[in-house]
Amino acid sequence: MSLDITRTRSAFPALDEGVAYFDGPGGTQVPRAVAQAIADTMCAGISNRGSVTVSEQRAGRVVDEARAAIADLLGCDARGVVFARSMTQATYDLSRALARQWGPGDEVVVTRLDHDANIRPWVAAATLSGATVRWAGFDRKSAELSVEDVRAELSARTRLVAVTGASNLLGSRPDVPAIVEAAHEVGALVYVDGVHLTPHSPVSLDELGADFYACSPYKFFGPHHGVLAAAPELLESVHPDKLLPSADTVPERFELGTLPYELLAGTAAAVDFIASLASSATDRRTRVLESMRTVEEHEDYLFDKLLDGLARLAGVRLHGSPKRRTPTALFSVDGHSGLDVHRHLAGLDVNAPASSFYAIEASRWIGLGDAGAVRAGLAPYTNDDDVDRLLAAVAGLTR
Ligand SMILES: Cc1ncc(COP(=O)(O)O)c(C=O)c1O
Repeated sequence: MSLDITRTRSAFPALDEGVAYFDGPGGTQVPRAVAQAIADTMCAGISNRGSVTVSEQRAGRVVDEARAAIADLLGCDARGVVFARSMTQATYDLSRALARQWGPGDEVVVTRLDHDANIRPWVAAATLSGATVRWAGFDRKSAELSVEDVRAELSARTRLVAVTGASNLLGSRPDVPAIVEAAHEVGALVYVDGVHLTPHSPVSLDELGADFYACSPYKFFGPHHGVLAAAPELLESVHPDKLLPSADTVPERFELGTLPYELLAGTAAAVDFIASLASSATDRRTRVLESMRTVEEHEDYLFDKLLDGLARLAGVRLHGSPKRRTPTALFSVDGHSGLDVHRHLAGLDVNAPASSFYAIEASRWIGLGDAGAVRAGLAPYTNDDDVDRLLAAVAGLTR
């Protein structure tokens, strides 16, 4: 099945405003069905989770359905799905809890390619525990992070490797299964930041081999909160700070305070929406995988067109050329600051902001400092017309 782009776009009320959105890597637009699920949950009788009243049971059902939906999205065990305020929050919380098991002599590996949310929490936790941080660099020209880049930092003392599934700045997709294999050989755990990968690719925790995998539903049509997935047995071995009366079971042990039921209903609806994009299989996991493969084809086609178009424009410099990548382009226009370009595009109803997008280490590493450059990221709702408009708008600056 191919992606019916007209049908897909009609699901997003925001697209009626006529803006071409290339800022999906910062958060996608939201389908009507997701907003409706959130509103329905808030309008229905809802209480704290429990087993006595209908409204207590409803809250419990919402949480269970959201865990099941994430399990179908990521190919993981629903009993190991933790909900958090954001990926950043989930990572900080887990890093503090894991660091209780570290001490001087232990090592933690982070990469220059990662978003700061998969760097700074580990640096802080390592510092507190007395562990050493080791930094894996990446090829500045291609923006590829190789297995060798990571392996060079591994040792028998490595306790954890934090690596991105895909760079939100440059789109690079490291070979995560190979990195996981190398890390596991020295007995280290691997924490994969899947925030930018999840919206663009079928994901299977088993295939990646990741011990922990974090993502954010607002990057794939859902509401603003975070997700951490891991094998329940692994989560059992970690003991975060928690209140005395709150459940010590897994995954609840990791969820501080009352869960945002309405947002979780929105996230389940977002997974259902993904599953409905291009598949009519009977089980949702298969529908998700088939739909995401179709999304990849759609985005690859448009991304080739975007890259070709940008490459033809004199004065436009593309940063990075990774072989495996998400449809995310980072570029500068000679003679114009990133903010100039962002503003110029905004004036033509084309949204493509300029920044380091919190991948500040990566931006500095490739010589773009803290300012970064202009990022154009595709989403499943992007169409040919959007790409034509972006290219024409950038061309207007290069004449
Ligand atoms: C690759 C990547 N990792 C982590 C984050 C942080 O996610 P959150 O906003 O859920 O904390 C982002 C957000 O932009 C991201 O793009």
